[in-house]
Amino acid sequence: MARTIAVSGTASGIGEALAGLLRDQGDTVIGIDLRDADVRADLSGPEGRARAVAGTLELCGGTLDGVVACAGVSDFTVLPVKVNFFGAVALLDGLRPALARAGAPRAAVVGSISGTHPVDDAVVRACLDGDEDAALAAAAKVEESGAGGRLYPSSKSALAQWLRRVCVTPEWAGAGIALNAIAPGVVRTPMTTPLFEDEAMFKVMNEAVPMPLNGYAGPEVIAEALRWLIAPANTHMTGQVIYVDGGAEATLRGPELF
Ligand code: NAI
Repeated sequence: MARTIAVSGTASGIGEALAGLLRDQGDTVIGIDLRDADVRADLSGPEGRARAVAGTLELCGGTLDGVVACAGVSDFTVLPVKVNFFGAVALLDGLRPALARAGAPRAAVVGSISGTHPVDDAVVRACLDGDEDAALAAAAKVEESGAGGRLYPSSKSALAQWLRRVCVTPEWAGAGIALNAIAPGVVRTPMTTPLFEDEAMFKVMNEAVPMPLNGYAGPEVIAEALRWLIAPANTHMTGQVIYVDGGAEATLRGPELF
């Protein structure tokens, strides 16, 4: 049965690949992005987030079968905290009532293997408290101290912890909404192109994300996994962070953690 799915980040990379897969199987996709999208909105701030939610609700008529928060940025500034955490959470929270009206609603986010890398605890705590001002103040300090490389991992760790907290609540599980994450390793998209072009960054990336199974992934690999998470067949999986990472997480964390 054709479903209506909202996906952020559809102008590029993983989101674009997912939108293509879903449209190929007959679903209606409402793409949300800064550009080239059904709903053009900037998820880095409150106004754009409100526009993204309102625009999506208008196009779907108030009921959604799926939401995938895929839009994200990776740099050493406070931006990942704004987009990857607060942008994703605002989109999911804002569209949750529309999901609750569907027969088999599913939601997913795109986390990252980086969520297992060192984070800034104050940033993660403020994110989980839902205090964006405090999170951005803490993140600005981290950026100034030269440890901005911790902000992307912090945003993705907070996102994974947020979903594990809310997934079992009456608002999500109680409304029949499965909520999970795919955490990729290195995926070849415009986001990672600069890493492949810089010798030093390339070395750091390979050490931080070892991928013994088949190496770097294409965006369609992550899109396939997301497709299953939001399919009606996923009746019972929720709160899971699924590492689609060529074995990076198993390599880095070892066999004791599962
Ligand atoms: P990409 O750069 O190809 O696509 C990201 C999309 O998000 C773009 O279309 C961009 O316009 C949109 N976006 C960025 N900021 C936005 C904003 N403020 N408001 C609305 N849309 C915005 O990147 P890719 O690789 O497809 O990334 C998708 C997700 O996957 C991100 O959340 C990223 O953190 C995550 N990820 C990517 C990995 C990789 O190796 N490429 C690895 C792990 C996670």
